[in-house]
Amino acid sequence: MKFFVDTADVAEIRELNELGLLDGVTTNPSLILKSGRRIAEVTREICDIVAGPVSAEVAATDYSGMMKEARTLAMIADNICIKVPLTLDGLKACRAIRAEGRMVNVTLCFSANQALLAAKAGASFISPFIGRIDDAGSDGIELISEIRTIYDNYDFKTEILAASIRTVNHVKQAALIGADVATVPPATLKALVRHPLTDKGLEQFLADWAKSGQTIG
Ligand code: E4P
Repeated sequence: MKFFVDTADVAEIRELNELGLLDGVTTNPSLILKSGRRIAEVTREICDIVAGPVSAEVAATDYSGMMKEARTLAMIADNICIKVPLTLDGLKACRAIRAEGRMVNVTLCFSANQALLAAKAGASFISPFIGRIDDAGSDGIELISEIRTIYDNYDFKTEILAASIRTVNHVKQAALIGADVATVPPATLKALVRHPLTDKGLEQFLADWAKSGQTIG
């Protein structure tokens, strides 16, 4: 499973990349707002840090506007992945951007039929929003499972990018089902390593090692 980080915070991205944890980055208009920076500038900096796909989202909602913005965003770096919303215009733009040789992440997916349409439009990634589905009282992980089945039934190459992840359990469940990628907030990504028994065990080993009076090397 690939890990993307869901943020436009350059310091967080740099730290996680240096840990070797990152296969890519996703941003969206809300995350750009939170960064307090201009989209072109912050996205270029992210693309310089991470070699994998960096999703940058269009803000236009009509086909021509999306294409214009997609071409502007594409000029930032070779690893830009254009993010378009799951609308009819978004799907049309997805097909056209793919034909121009760029990666496309179709975002705001909340149903299996939407994911089917995105795959048929040639999307590189489909982003089902697990957390927001859970928030609305349904089961986000169940949607990932449905999409996995449909994509496998027809051998679609679109990668399932589990998005809107809120917990470490979301990551585990998405991995068990076979999501290709999880885009995870920085704090949740770091929390994956934690286990109280690891901390307790390490504490005991260090205490016993100190008692042994030995050193290595
Ligand atoms: C990722 O591409 C999405 O933009 C993101 O995961 C949305 O997460 P949220 O529901 O926590 O805003």
